[in-house]
Amino acid sequence: METLLTTEQIQTRIVEMAASIEQDYPPEEGIHLVGVLKGGFMFMADLVRAMSPRVTMDFIAVSSYGKRTKSTGEVRMVKDVDASLEGRHVIIVEDIVDTGLTLTYLQDILRARGPKSIKTACLLSKPSRRVVNVTVDYVGFTIEDRFVVGYGLDYAEKYRNLSHIAVLDEE
Ligand code: PRP
Repeated sequence: METLLTTEQIQTRIVEMAASIEQDYPPEEGIHLVGVLKGGFMFMADLVRAMSPRVTMDFIAVSSYGKRTKSTGEVRMVKDVDASLEGRHVIIVEDIVDTGLTLTYLQDILRARGPKSIKTACLLSKPSRRVVNVTVDYVGFTIEDRFVVGYGLDYAEKYRNLSHIAVLDEE
């Protein structure tokens, strides 16, 4: 498989992202990250390790009704967050924004929970695939429309454990 982003490139970028997130919030206020499972687990783990002790975290899991019906925008919640988001600075942490449908759904439902602020951090963005306009406040890398795996991203549930991001070979 061809490497698109090396482990070093990813780690360097995450440290930069963590620094810019930290700068954007008053130092005495907490930052509550909501990681989106499953793909976002590895980005979340590295991002929080690059942040200060004021960070707290929770996880949410969503599922689209199969990739083929994704354009309908049907997203289902599989696991909700555990703690209330009310009055907190919330950042949604995703591995990738593709059509933007998942993120739009997440932003809408989490915004309705009364957070003090809500932003989004995505490691990867494929703007050419977007079907809805969605705001991503922190983007790690903008990439072309290629099928990428690794660093949380799967193909048939495999390759999530790679520490780099690779392009899946044409079948
Ligand atoms: C991926 C990714 C995002 C979503 C992005 O999740 O983690 O949640 O797709 O696509 P979109 O912008 O077109 O909505 P996936 O459904 O593959 O689940 P997973 O994270 O469990 O692998």
